[in-house]
Amino acid sequence: MEDLIKKAAKDLAASKDVVALTGAGISVESKIPPFRGKGGLWEKIDPMEYAHIDAFNKNPTKVWNVLLKDMKEIIDKAIPNDAHKGLARLEELGILKTIITQNIDGLHQMAGNTDVIEFHGTYAWHRCMDCKNRCKSSRIDLTNIPPLCDCGGIYRPEVVFFGEIIPPEHLWRSRQLASDCDLMLVIGTSATVQPAALMPHIAKESGSKVIEINPEETPLTESISDYLILGKAGEVMSSIITELERLL
Ligand code: APR
Repeated sequence: MEDLIKKAAKDLAASKDVVALTGAGISVESKIPPFRGKGGLWEKIDPMEYAHIDAFNKNPTKVWNVLLKDMKEIIDKAIPNDAHKGLARLEELGILKTIITQNIDGLHQMAGNTDVIEFHGTYAWHRCMDCKNRCKSSRIDLTNIPPLCDCGGIYRPEVVFFGEIIPPEHLWRSRQLASDCDLMLVIGTSATVQPAALMPHIAKESGSKVIEINPEETPLTESISDYLILGKAGEVMSSIITELERLL
């Protein structure tokens, strides 16, 4: 792995326009479980039964009780780990422009990155299903489930449930960034959910270098990634930043 760390540091130092695509794996070391693989949430509960918009509309109390309540408690306690901090450092160094994240935990912004596309929305805000009033997550009171707006309507997090569309402005801008970047860092994603998983393909087709960081191979590894650095995002990112600062 040592020489791949050195290679990644050199590639990043030579790049002018780096974009990162991140997934749940980058927040695992912040104690937020991933969805798939070891300890994955979808190994325990069926996403179609609890994370689909039709399921939420049919029984919001059930979805709040089984999925959303615990998720809020985990996210409220989470803090950025070395991987998030490494990406914030890359922005400070003028190397990383934008993060396209599939995560809803807000940890990239908390670590200091200023241009983050929240491809699957965010848990930071909730919206009343009736009057559309928006409420910060920290002000959502979970003593009663489901949480209700003053108008009596039910609150839902501003995340993209299965069965909902990606906000068009996020999709369009992400495609643009993927085709314009000269290097895409793909960190902690199983690359199985579309259209997010399309971004590395677009980057590759536009001639960008694609570097993956993941403890295991993904569908990108074979034909899209230039190389995969096998390891945990926190450890790998801090080693890359150490090497990069030596070069600069
Ligand atoms: N460091 C880096 N990667 C890790 C780590 C770690 N410490 N631990 C696990 N991983 C990797 C796993 O090997 C896997 O490839 O992170 C990935 C997590 O995959 P998923 O749980 O599928 O997360 P993600 O790819 O973000 O899922 C995409 O699916 O359910 C929807 O909306 C949800 O945004 C999510 C989307």
